Amino acid sequence: MLSAVLNWVEKRTGFVSMTQEFLTEDVPGGASYWYVFGSATLFAMIVQIVTGIFLTFFYAPSAATAWESTRAIYLNPWTHFLLSVHYWGASAMIALVFLHLLQVLIFGAYKSPREIQWVVGVLLLLITLVLGLTGYLLPWDMDAYFASQVSLNITGLPPGGAILQNIAQGGTVMGTNTINRFFGLHVWLMPAALVALVGAHLAIFRHNGSAGPVTDDPRKLKVGRFWPDQMFMDGAFSMIVFIIIVFLALVFPPFLDAKADPTNGAFVPYPAWYFLSLFGLLNLVPILLGNGPFAELLAAIIVPTIGLIVVLILPWLDRSTTRAFGSRKAILWPTALVVAAIVGLSIYAQIGIMAKQAAGPPSPPETEVLAAPAEAASTSGGTAAGPGVSGAAGAPANANGAKVFSTNCASCHGAQGQGSPGAFPPLADNPVVTGDPNKLIGIVLDGLHGSIVVGGSTYNGQMPPWKGTLSNGDVADVITYIRGSLGSNKASAVTEKQVAGYKP
Ligand code: HEC
Repeated sequence: MLSAVLNWVEKRTGFVSMTQEFLTEDVPGGASYWYVFGSATLFAMIVQIVTGIFLTFFYAPSAATAWESTRAIYLNPWTHFLLSVHYWGASAMIALVFLHLLQVLIFGAYKSPREIQWVVGVLLLLITLVLGLTGYLLPWDMDAYFASQVSLNITGLPPGGAILQNIAQGGTVMGTNTINRFFGLHVWLMPAALVALVGAHLAIFRHNGSAGPVTDDPRKLKVGRFWPDQMFMDGAFSMIVFIIIVFLALVFPPFLDAKADPTNGAFVPYPAWYFLSLFGLLNLVPILLGNGPFAELLAAIIVPTIGLIVVLILPWLDRSTTRAFGSRKAILWPTALVVAAIVGLSIYAQIGIMAKQAAGPPSPPETEVLAAPAEAASTSGGTAAGPGVSGAAGAPANANGAKVFSTNCASCHGAQGQGSPGAFPPLADNPVVTGDPNKLIGIVLDGLHGSIVVGGSTYNGQMPPWKGTLSNGDVADVITYIRGSLGSNKASAVTEKQVAGYKP
């Protein structure tokens, strides 16, 4: 019965023999878990395309709607999960491309006749990084805005770069045009280029066949089968990758920061982990060479570009035909050094960011090499610190609490927490707000619905949950703010620890 159907399909399409031919690929040396990174990258790409397409159903790219629509995505558990999978899927895809590249590098599989396959692979890594960069801006929160500003300002560094920056940014300042350009790159141009180049990468792979294990006499190798041996290993590893992505998406969903506020130049941006090493380089070079336009250019453009070119032309730099580890020390040692440098620079950047964040809002401007508006603002009369921030120097948590309140709560509860009769309960002079902190934490984290009575009026609305949208620190700050600063409220502060330790 089945074979009759397959026969019928085969006669009309040729698909059955095509699939058979595809699956009966030889694997020199037999199947191995060393070869699973390429197919797992492909798998992660498919996860990204599927979740990404569905995210566009809910996302609205413009300065007035990007953050708002992202927040709506966060507030619904299903779309929040979708976004979390997309977020962790991106990390997985980039990690897997790196591992795949490293494996090919260590095994010397880039050597003739696979040079073009290698070049296409490096281009795929670049496209993946551009996808990460453009996706980072889309939520349009504080971090998205200021981290993207750093990369956009880098575009403007080299001679003639101002024009490039203007094109990427869609004008002289970041705004709706920037979101639209990044959105177009992120959902159309880069994915199209990615899929086309992956097609080419696979077609060339089929043409050359698998490089197999490291040996100088491939004729002695036994030959394994792609189906079912390698296919099983590829599938098993992709399954593990998928389980890890889903686990991380459920347990560590990303946070949405406050909406982008271009005037808050004191904000310390946090780059995605895969850009931390470049960020570290950007901080380190001016320390070694002194501040100046050349040091910036060197760290931000020259070193990364030279690195990229070296990787791209590696098959022509390394002309030896042997793949044996022992005779390739000139490649393997520098590779190990570069990997160590990337890890070291990432740790260095991470420590620097943590120190800056701990130093509080009025961060020293000289470390913010590329945050141009912050520089401009601080030289033109010190507006960077902002009157609100410097005025509340004694209670920094409350400055943030006030900010979180005005961005997230004031739209419903009123600017002074006065509420709106019948619709939104007042938070000022409200005994629930000044009462049991644990109960209050629960309301803010999990939301509230059902009938309540405040000051003699009945309310029966929906208060959205903030868990996942606001970080524990922001929740603690905003609760401290509403307990201590609205109306005649004078209740105790709430700490981040209390929020983290909340139990219903
Ligand atoms: C979309 C509108 C909306 C936003 C935004 C909002 N709330 Fe609410 N909030 C409500 C509604 C409606 C209620 C009443 C729920 C009910 O009737 O059960 C409420 C209730 C509360 C209560 C309980 C009051 C009581 O007397 O029991 C607290 C506390 C509260 N909100 C704090 C906050 C904080 C803090 C924020 C910002 C992080 C916030 N709300 C943002 C709509 C909102």
